[in-house]
Amino acid sequence: CNVGEFVRVEADPENPGVAVIRIDRPKALNALNGQVTQEIAEAAAAVSADPAVRAVVLYGGERAFVAGADIKEMADLTHARMLEYSRSLQNALTAVARIPKPVVAAISGYALGGGCELALCADFRVAGTKAKLGQPEIQLGVIPGAGGTQRLPRLVGPAKAKDLVFSGRHVRSDEARQIGLVDEVVADEEVYSAAVALVAKYVDGPAVALAAAKEAIDRGMETDLDTGLEIERLHFSGLFSTEDQEAGMRSFVEQGPGKATFN
Ligand code: CAA
Repeated sequence: CNVGEFVRVEADPENPGVAVIRIDRPKALNALNGQVTQEIAEAAAAVSADPAVRAVVLYGGERAFVAGADIKEMADLTHARMLEYSRSLQNALTAVARIPKPVVAAISGYALGGGCELALCADFRVAGTKAKLGQPEIQLGVIPGAGGTQRLPRLVGPAKAKDLVFSGRHVRSDEARQIGLVDEVVADEEVYSAAVALVAKYVDGPAVALAAAKEAIDRGMETDLDTGLEIERLHFSGLFSTEDQEAGMRSFVEQGPGKATFN
């Protein structure tokens, strides 16, 4: 299904159940202008709502994942307009972070500023050897405004996040792997297929349990241990009303481990 001019939701023909959110604004290295941002939010809503989609790949093509928010569009905005602009960027990226299915960012080329922030909203990041990641906003006299000051330190710790945000430097994929900003580095031409392979293994899993696991981990990271355990307990017990729980446990009892098939 097509979302808009710059963002499409595509099926991967060789991997049923995997949907690709393809960002395609090559003239500006996929920079996030207002329209791209809106279309990303729509794409996130579409894959979230479609039960046939079991896993998602974010992909921007070979040259760039996303080179950031659109600097030319932002340059002359006032404080008041920027508050709205940042809110809509944050909302769109949060919609991606809340997709209740495994999501991987396939990063080829630049993932800078808002592009790095978009990648942070995936569950996993696969990058090509020549990929460059970073939060260069400081070099524009500003700071990350699409979640970078919050999601980056949660992933790599505050000191590494400050290194990247204070300096604005580009990080190569090998360093990104070392600090936990990416999970896998592969040859540039293999980024897409490696990313698909990483999430395709979940398409036959129990969808409701996978969504519960993601939500419990993500929400739990935002709160104290007691509240996190409460979130876990509610999700865990809630799963005892699903067919997948019944099938999974019956299969273990009758056939032993690892034989269950799910809806
Ligand atoms: N906004 C608008 N246009 C952009 C862009 C951006 N973030 N990044 C690239 N482009 C445009 C360039 O202006 C250029 O357009 P023209 O052909 O019309 O001149 C085109 O994309 C190709 O880019 P370059 O010619 O610059 O390509 P390059 O290979 O020489 O350099 C680059 C690539 C290093 C990524 C460089 O384009 C660059 O530094 N881009 C900006 C990166 C950046 O600062 N991102 C952060 C943006 S702010 C932000 O994201 C705030 C936030 O947190 C929400």
